[in-house]
Amino acid sequence: MTSYDLIIRNATLVNHDGQGPADVGVREGRTAMIGDLGQASAGHEIDATGLHLLPGVIDTQVHFREPGMDGKEDLESGSRAAVLGGVTAVFEMPNTKPTTSTPEALADKLARARDRMWCDHAFYVGATAENADHLDELERLPGTAGVKIFMGASTGDLLVADDETLSRVLATINRRCAVHAEDEPRMAERRHIAEASTSAHAHPDWRDPTSAMRATERIVALARRHGKRVHVLHITTAAEIDFLARHKDVATVEVTPQHLTLNAPECYDRLGNFAQMNPPIRDLGEQDGLWRGIARGIVDVVGSDHAPHTREEKAVPYPNSPSGMPGVQTLLPLLLDHMNAGRMTLQRLVDLTSAGAARLFQLAGKGRLAVGYDADYTLVDLTARRTIELDWLASRCGWSPFEGREVTGWPMATVVRGRVVMREGELADSAHGRPIRFQETLEAEVSGPGAAS
Ligand code: DOR
Repeated sequence: MTSYDLIIRNATLVNHDGQGPADVGVREGRTAMIGDLGQASAGHEIDATGLHLLPGVIDTQVHFREPGMDGKEDLESGSRAAVLGGVTAVFEMPNTKPTTSTPEALADKLARARDRMWCDHAFYVGATAENADHLDELERLPGTAGVKIFMGASTGDLLVADDETLSRVLATINRRCAVHAEDEPRMAERRHIAEASTSAHAHPDWRDPTSAMRATERIVALARRHGKRVHVLHITTAAEIDFLARHKDVATVEVTPQHLTLNAPECYDRLGNFAQMNPPIRDLGEQDGLWRGIARGIVDVVGSDHAPHTREEKAVPYPNSPSGMPGVQTLLPLLLDHMNAGRMTLQRLVDLTSAGAARLFQLAGKGRLAVGYDADYTLVDLTARRTIELDWLASRCGWSPFEGREVTGWPMATVVRGRVVMREGELADSAHGRPIRFQETLEAEVSGPGAAS
C-alpha cells in the first residue's frame, strides 16, 4: 500500500488547475500526489471536509525588527504571527539595527532565523551609497530576496534619495529589486505640513499622492534606462496604478491589505497615529484605484508591510510617532473577507498570495500547489465568521488596527514543507523555518559560504 508522511483528505483544492475536490499526499516535504488517495496510508492525516486547500500564502513584505528592536518584534514572534495567520513564508525587510546591508548582517539574520522562525524566510539586502557598487555580489547570496531601496525616509536610516546613487544601484544589480517609492526631496520641502499639525490627519497631506507618483515615475524611468526590473511596494494612488499599467514589462506592483481596507479620513478619526504608515492610508477614491488594479491584473502581489511599533511609541504625539502597523497575521483573514464580499475571486486571491510571488521572485520549488513543489499549504474555512481579537494576535507589539473587526473566512491550518505548524490556532511543538530558495541564487547555494541546507 502506498504511504505518505502526510495526507490531507477531502479538501477543495485551489490551484493553477482551478478548484475541485482532491486529496493531497506529502512525502519528504514535497507534494507527492494529488487526486483520490483511496486506501493510501500516512503518518499523519487531516480530514479537510468542508475546507479549501490553497498554496501556502507568501508575504513578500514584513519588518520583524531583529536584530536591534526586539522589544517590538523578533524573528520568532513575527513568524509565529505569520503561521497563525496562515502564512507559510515571508520576505523580511533590511531596516533593522544594524541594517541588513552587508554579507555579515545577512549571515547573522539567517543564523538567527534557523529553527527559531516558524515559517520559511528570505531577507532583503538594503541598498546604501556604500554598498551600491557591489550589490550584485550581495544579491547573489543564498537566503536573500534581493535588494530593497528606500527612496523616501521611513523607519530606520536606509535611504537612497538621489538619482545618481539610484543609478549606481540599478546599474549594478541583476535581480528584481523592491522599492519604497516616496520622493524624499518633495517630502523634505513639505515637512512643515506635518510639523504644523498634532494629528495624523496631516500624514496623507504631507506625504501626498504627488510624492508617491514622482518617486514611482523616477524609479521606472531609471529601471528602463538600465534595463532592470523593479517591484514597486505598497502602491497607494489610482494614478500610480494607471501609470504602472503602462510599464508592466519592467515594473511589478504590490498593494497592502491596510490600503485596501482602511480609508482617510475615517481611519485617522478612529485610530489616530495607529493608522499612520508610509506611504499613508488615503481616501476612498485612491482606494478604488487600488481595487481597479486588483481587478485588472495590474497588481501582482499583496504584501502586509507588517511594521510593528509598541503602543507607547505610537501614542507619542504626531508627527513624532513612528509609522507602521502590524499585519502579517491579518493579511489572509482580511483578503478572505474581501473575497467573500465579492471584491475578488478565490483564484485571484491565490494569484496575489502565492503564484505572484513565485513569478516575480523566481522561487525555487515554492508558490504552487503541484507535485514536486514544497508542501506549503494554507487550509482555510471560507465560511467561518470570526472576530479579530487581541488574544489571538502574536505580534509583540500587542495591537492591531483590525482588532474587533468581524471577518468571514479564516485560516484553519498552516503546513510548511509538509509539517503542520498550525492547526485550529494551535502551534506545533517546535519551529523549523528554512531559507527560501531562489532560482537566481541556486548556483551560489552549491558553491558559496553559508550555503542553505
Ligand atoms: O510605515 C512604514 N513603516 N513604512 C515603512 O516603509 C517602514 C515601516 C517600518 O519599518 O516601521
